[in-house]
Amino acid sequence: MKIIGFSGSPNKEGSTNTIINKILNIAEEGDNETAFFSLNNLNINPCQACGYCKENESCDLDDDINKVHKEIEDADYIIIGSPIYFGEVTAQTKLFTDRFYGIYNNENRSVDGKKVILVYTQGNPDPKTYEEYTKGQRNFLYEFMNFDVVNTLVVGGIHSKEDLIQQEKIMKEVENIAMRI
Ligand SMILES: Cc1cc2nc3c(=O)[nH]c(=O)nc-3n(C[C@H](O)[C@H](O)[C@H](O)COP(=O)(O)O)c2cc1C
Repeated sequence: MKIIGFSGSPNKEGSTNTIINKILNIAEEGDNETAFFSLNNLNINPCQACGYCKENESCDLDDDINKVHKEIEDADYIIIGSPIYFGEVTAQTKLFTDRFYGIYNNENRSVDGKKVILVYTQGNPDPKTYEEYTKGQRNFLYEFMNFDVVNTLVVGGIHSKEDLIQQEKIMKEVENIAMRI
């Protein structure tokens, strides 16, 4: 299987990247093909709502999105992680997910049934704080696109990577999520 991860964190050594890479590393031991993408390092511009994608199986914007969409369409599992910034995903993540429109808009393209694992990290220790928001993401974005969301992991109380490593229960849960792939 091909398993790819996208992180919307700008923090190379941060908790979001650490969680996604842990899942990918475990999946790789199971002889799967994996790839990690930092959205912060990709050139992804805001959707221009030009409608080009309705008539063409690509986006007209000259940035990295066509390459990213090919990766998504080739993958069996996609891990998408973002820190919570002011109650929402990071700008890097939002730019990436708005551009799903290029797939949504074209009748010959789809992500139907593609498995997705969502990861949210946050400073607030209560994982339920942004539950309405993360449920909305699931319903109005991922399930609306016809992705099959198999897991949503919310990790609270994170101000540094060390905060994550100390959460043994969460690290075990991350392992279990990876083992179920
Ligand atoms: C600009 C900014 C805004 C943030 N807003 C929130 C917030 O609204 N709620 C929250 O719980 N944590 C907030 N945080 C904390 C991050 O979500 C948290 O530290 C996260 O784990 C960082 O992920 P990283 O380790 O991948 O960088 C914010 C951090 C930054 C830098």
